[in-house]
Amino acid sequence: MNKFEKGVSPFIPKESDPAILEQIASLKDELKDDLVILGHHYQRDDVIRFADVSGDSLILSQKAAEMKKKHIVFCGVYFMAECADILSDEDQKVYLPDMRAGCSMADMANINDVEVIWKHLTSGTNDKIIPVTYINSSAEIKYFVGKNDGIICTSSNASRIFDWAMERGSKILFLPDQFLGMNTAISQGIPESEIFTLDRLPLAQKIKKSKVFLWNGYCSVHKRFTLNDVISRRNEYPGINIVVHGECTADVVKASDAFGSTSTIIKIITEAKKGSVWAVGTEQHLVQRLKKRFPDKTILPLSESGFQCVTMSLITPEKLLNTLKEIKTGSTEHEIRVDPEIKHYAKIALIRMLAL
Ligand code: 13P
Ligand code: SF4
Repeated sequence: MNKFEKGVSPFIPKESDPAILEQIASLKDELKDDLVILGHHYQRDDVIRFADVSGDSLILSQKAAEMKKKHIVFCGVYFMAECADILSDEDQKVYLPDMRAGCSMADMANINDVEVIWKHLTSGTNDKIIPVTYINSSAEIKYFVGKNDGIICTSSNASRIFDWAMERGSKILFLPDQFLGMNTAISQGIPESEIFTLDRLPLAQKIKKSKVFLWNGYCSVHKRFTLNDVISRRNEYPGINIVVHGECTADVVKASDAFGSTSTIIKIITEAKKGSVWAVGTEQHLVQRLKKRFPDKTILPLSESGFQCVTMSLITPEKLLNTLKEIKTGSTEHEIRVDPEIKHYAKIALIRMLAL
């Protein structure tokens, strides 16, 4: 197990104190002229109900760039709040209700290690390598790609971003999610023999032959889904449809009917025929929400264990309420501030993506 692999646990629905929910509603109303709450699809119901905008990483970063409210409360994880800070204006403040709400995948790419690999790759070929980072990465990694003519992608636009990179270079270094990188490269028709996972340093010959270099990171939640889960669901429910997130492993994605971002999953289930049966391979809060929203369809988790992302779940109604109280009193305890120097190039890389 990777040292960063943490933050996955079976799904247990949590009850909220109605008094807390009432207080959030009234404080939100009081602050409404200056406040926007953004919420990722993996947040629990009693948090997402207060979000002015809910969405996937792409939608939320677009909204963070557009919203001109003074206070942006991000119900999601650290890298998302960092993106909001990078994209927002100087006079806007971004808050994360629990500063420990990180992403284990983002932690797997450390800037010092990336610089070492970058040097090794670029000194091993004259071909132009374009660094691409998945948005699930630290601000330092975004700075690195911005400074080296690279770009950021989300699970919604990874294919389009691969095209962008291949128009400007002939090789890609993809950080930090090996599986989203692998699934995207395969869907782009790149042969697996030209995709190199950086679990070791490639030799000169390999550097020359490879088109895509994949950092060795992964999502601790999505990696748990296995090919066996897909086979079991197909055996239990002949004719079942299977949709999974692009962070799942390549064998799971290949054996499924569709893959994509959280918004893609929601769109597919929304448009599915009444009475159809679906197994969904993603974080359990979203699967349960879909199940409630579409009682006319059968919606099952791909794995019975129903994994939840523990860091996403650190955002509770109580902590949201505390953050709103802090805003009212002018406290900055939960404010996210990215170093201005890091911000500059990270913003260039984010704007390149949003411009597409
Ligand atoms: P999307 O919502 O962009 O598909 O991302 C999923 C995710 O893992 C966020 O942490
Ligand atoms: Fe990170 Fe995976 Fe949790 Fe998303 S679901 S925040 S990628 S650990």
